[in-house]
Parts: sequence; structure tokens; C-alpha cells
Amino acid sequence: MSNVVLHGHKFRIKISAAEIQKAVGDVARQINTDLKGKKPLFLAVLNGSFMFAADLMKKVNIESEISFIKLASYNGTSSTGKVNELIGVNEDIKGRTVIVIEDIVDTGTTIEVIVAKLKEMGAAEIKIATLLFKPEAYTKSLPIEYTAIVVPNDFLVGYGLDYNGLGRNLADIYVLDYVADQKK
Ligand code: IMP
Ligand code: MG
Repeated sequence: MSNVVLHGHKFRIKISAAEIQKAVGDVARQINTDLKGKKPLFLAVLNGSFMFAADLMKKVNIESEISFIKLASYNGTSSTGKVNELIGVNEDIKGRTVIVIEDIVDTGTTIEVIVAKLKEMGAAEIKIATLLFKPEAYTKSLPIEYTAIVVPNDFLVGYGLDYNGLGRNLADIYVLDYVADQKK
């Protein structure tokens, strides 16, 4: 498919499934080399990273575990303001090498909160593996160790990424087609 329509907006193909698979393979190879013997715990951030996590883990061949986490954001009291809660860390992560699997690092706010929480829980070493990275939007200083594909500051959907809930099932990655969208 070269074009898709989601919630009435037009998207055109940007990164093919074949390109994605190649880039995921490259990340897996680096991880297999770097983390051999560390028995790392992969924590995939739901919902967006589900496809990347599945494809990555099929190519990771070192002794390792995987589990799934979610960052839930809710309104606390007037004194606590907005509260972020990390759900799903059921393993004892004290002293472990943890790799956070993300769909996309944009401003970096999400990953910064997750890494801070995992540090509090006692992880010895925390690395980030992201499918997509938008360096033009990134405002943090945390290093992103493993990036499959660097992308410009465009809105993307597919392969786990959504536009208001739609598009996560697409095998390729699409970009909002501003021009076609204006012509409607
Ligand atoms: P950050 O906290 O700004 O790094 O944004 C991270 C989250 O924003 C991701 O996990 C996505 O859920 C969402 N996001 C950022 N950019 C895009 C995009 O281009 N398409 C879909 N979701 C995005
Ligand atoms: Mg996400």
C-alpha cells in the first residue's frame, strides 16, 4: 500500500517494511555483541513498541528476558499536579541491565520519566533501544544507545505508531501528506 487514509487524513508511505526489518536486524546485532553475558531484561513500552519489540526479540540471540511496561499519566491532587506511574515492572530489577524498547523518541520527555523511575528501582544499567528517533525534536541529554532509524520531525504512523488510535497495524511506516490533505 502506498497511501492510507486514517480519520479522513491522507498518509503516504515513508519507510517500507523491508527497510524496517533491515534496520531492526542491525540493532539486534549490536545488542547481541554489546550485551552478551549480561542477561539483560528488555522492557517494551506499550502500546507503540509492540511490533518493534516482537521483531527485535526474534533477532536477539543472547540469554535475556522480556516484559512489558506502560507509562500511565493521571491528574493527582492540586499539590501533586500531573502524576506519572510506571506500570508493569514486576521483576526485581535491582542490579540488572535493563533495555527500554520504545517506538519513537521525540522530545524525550517519556523516556526521561521512564529512565528516572527505573533508576529509582535500582537498575544497574539502563539503555534505550528505539525504532525511530527525531533528533530535531529531542530536548534531553540522555544518550539513546540503539536507534534503528533516524527520522525528520514529521508525524508518522504504522508499525506500532498510531494517529488517534488508528494505524498501529500497518506493516510500513507512513507520513502525513500535508499537500494531499490540503487539496481535499
Ligand atoms: P516524547 O515524550 O516527546 O519523546 O514522545 C514520545 C511519544 O509520543 C511516543 O511514544 C509516541 O507515543 C508519541 N509520538 C511522538 N512522535 C510521534 C509520531 O510521529 N507519530 C506517532 N506518535 C508519536
Ligand atoms: Mg509511545
